[in-house]
Amino acid sequence: MDLSSLSLAKNEIKEELKTADSLAAIENLRVKFLGKNGVLKRLTAELASLSVEDKKQVGLVINEIKQEVETGLALATEQLSTQHKADSLEDFVKTLPGKKPEIGHLHVTTQAIREIVEVFKPLGFTRVRHPEIDWEYYAFEALNIPATHPARDEWETFFIDAPVDPKMSRQVITPHTSNGQIREMLKGDLPIRMLNISRCGRRQSDISHNPTFFQFEGLVVDKGINISHLKGVLNYFAKNFYGPDRQIRLRPYDFRFTEPSFEIDISCGICGGVGCKLCKGGWLELGGAGMVHPNVLIAGGVDPTQYSGFAFGWGVERVYMMKSGTRIDDIRHLLGNDLKFLEQF
Ligand code: DAH
Repeated sequence: MDLSSLSLAKNEIKEELKTADSLAAIENLRVKFLGKNGVLKRLTAELASLSVEDKKQVGLVINEIKQEVETGLALATEQLSTQHKADSLEDFVKTLPGKKPEIGHLHVTTQAIREIVEVFKPLGFTRVRHPEIDWEYYAFEALNIPATHPARDEWETFFIDAPVDPKMSRQVITPHTSNGQIREMLKGDLPIRMLNISRCGRRQSDISHNPTFFQFEGLVVDKGINISHLKGVLNYFAKNFYGPDRQIRLRPYDFRFTEPSFEIDISCGICGGVGCKLCKGGWLELGGAGMVHPNVLIAGGVDPTQYSGFAFGWGVERVYMMKSGTRIDDIRHLLGNDLKFLEQF
């Protein structure tokens, strides 16, 4: 080994490094020059047979070659990755439609609430919300249901573990949205066309009851309001929500906060009102309604000799389930959070 043959080898190695055009080629060259049995190892081993003077000079050149190889390989690697990036941009087809990220949709109960709001909107009803935890006074007393009244048992109320107010009594998770009647009247802004849609709670759970559910409460207070207005509004709702061929009927009932009171039924969508397995007698029960009781008007600060009103309070989920086509056979599905169920709406 002499210096001139070494510098020849150095030039050849430089040329060879230029041919590295793939990761595999770079790796091959690395093994060939720097590997355990590589060229540089062999040259270094040969140093032993040289004189001290030659060792110095040849050693220096070997080191230069080693550095040359290392920078050459690093350079080739870098060039390759820049090239790769440029190539992959060229592959990018701008006209190819993108992949849409999966996004969810509104819960079926929210959809129902929005639909109900839209039906009542043209009649001038405005959606409001009143407390979902409220005093017993607003949920019962002011609605003409005193503490001793047996009707209070029917509500199966959740009571809040909090100090009792001497005037307002205990706090409850509102068992219905009728507390909104009093609170809306107490705003002192007449006439009223309210749609209070809020969450309610009752200690019940079965095929047609969830312990937490929504109700929508309508309240109209104005001069000269009578039963025909109530009938007209509810008929309008039934036809626009369920379909033009559906009929409603009023059945006398007793609610403490309305007088007279009614249960409102709708003709069955399956049999058209003649009677079938679902409805039995041709009618399905929607919910309660009636003319606001004078005591309730007084509790709301409204003069019953000047004003009258009607009210209705129905379950959102219940009303929605009765739409033909929804085929919801158990109200508890609505709170189940099972995507297989929810994705159908
Ligand atoms: N609050 C009653 C309930 O939850 C429903 C109801 C009946 C509301 C008659 C009304 C009404 O506004 O007039 O069972």
